[in-house]
Amino acid sequence: MSVTVIVGTQWGDEGKGKITDLLAQDMDMVVRYQGGNNAGHTVVIGEEVFKLHLIPSGIFFPKVTCVIGNGVVIDPAVLLEEKASLEGKKCSLDNLRISSQAHVIMPYHKDLDAAQEKKAEAGRIGTTCRGIGPCYVDKYSRYGIRICDLYHTDILRAKLEWNIEEKTFIINNYYKSLVSYDLDKMLGDYTGYGKAIKQYVVEESSALVNDSIKQGKRILMEGAQGTMLDIDHGTYPFVTSSNPVSGGACVGAGIPPKAVDEVLGVVKAYVTRVGGGPFPTEETGAIGEELREKGHEYGATTGRPRRCGWFDGVVMKHASKINGLTGLAVTKLDVLDGFKKIKICVAYKHKGREIQAFPTDLERLNQCEPVYIEMPGWEQTTCKAKKFDELPQNARNYLAKLSEVAEAKISMVSVGPERTQIIKL
Ligand code: IMP
Repeated sequence: MSVTVIVGTQWGDEGKGKITDLLAQDMDMVVRYQGGNNAGHTVVIGEEVFKLHLIPSGIFFPKVTCVIGNGVVIDPAVLLEEKASLEGKKCSLDNLRISSQAHVIMPYHKDLDAAQEKKAEAGRIGTTCRGIGPCYVDKYSRYGIRICDLYHTDILRAKLEWNIEEKTFIINNYYKSLVSYDLDKMLGDYTGYGKAIKQYVVEESSALVNDSIKQGKRILMEGAQGTMLDIDHGTYPFVTSSNPVSGGACVGAGIPPKAVDEVLGVVKAYVTRVGGGPFPTEETGAIGEELREKGHEYGATTGRPRRCGWFDGVVMKHASKINGLTGLAVTKLDVLDGFKKIKICVAYKHKGREIQAFPTDLERLNQCEPVYIEMPGWEQTTCKAKKFDELPQNARNYLAKLSEVAEAKISMVSVGPERTQIIKL
């Protein structure tokens, strides 16, 4: 096994950070392939809690090369803050590599993101306001600024002139939020960021990754967000602006599809979502509240309370199909400890008919009702279990059902935030 892709199978926040951290110790390389600092990965090591937004979770292992791939959008100020906070905790960044082709999040991207959200009012997506969408828009419009541009002052100046003129006009005239940008200051700031990260920048990170593949090294592709937030396969338009699905790893890291050996789907034992958009199994009452409190379901990036609900088998099947899952890592099983009954959504009902396929048309999705089966819960705590057999029988039955729905085998079960709270199957 050489290349493993880790993907979120729901709306993000499935606990990918912990799983990546666990697998990273046996890897030679960890690669982030999409998204930016909209992501928040929490890693708990002993007493220390680390929140990573951009730097791959493998950074805690000095022998692991950590790559921020071409598909990622980078806010260099955030990257430098994260670097400082890790160095403050004696974590070396010597093995960090940043693709020179990755796009740069600029101040006007964040302003545009906020202005668009404000104007959308009730229809707002609930973005993280980190400028992710507008940065990807510029990438695809071919106006974007890439990391390599930070080292060519003339090119950067020309791109800034164009972008500042365009964005100021749009933000001030269409969105009616007053902004003004000082070109020389921005030029100075961003060339400064370029210098500060230069030691980590590699011209073509895909060459680095492909060479490692050729040498038979073990590589982990770390997806951010989740399948249902995918721009193509999620609940559009309530999605992020990149491709968190496994296919995104090939584009965002520059590797051929045939290089991928394993796709590990990270599945929370229940479901959460941050921001707006459909969520068929959402529990807005006491059950949702209990899941939120027991699961500490507050965003690692924005601190927003996450919407919570029961496991959704229709979403799971969709994620299984799109990603080609070869295994599952089930997280936060312990949060379900003490629930008398646990529901699993096995289908949706649309206009009186049961459907199994996830409706990609939001209008249809909004007309769907979840069809549940109920399983008995378990009274015992699971957080100390080290082996599958040590789990209560009802917890094992629940996991078996998840695996059946996903049509993939479970390879690990996480029963708490600590590195040690993991059952490997
Ligand atoms: P954006 O990625 O900031 O543009 O936000 C688009 C949508 O994706 C919003 O609903 C966000 O709440 C959601 N989102 C973005 N990143 C994450 C994440 O890491 N976890 C969960 N939701 C996310």
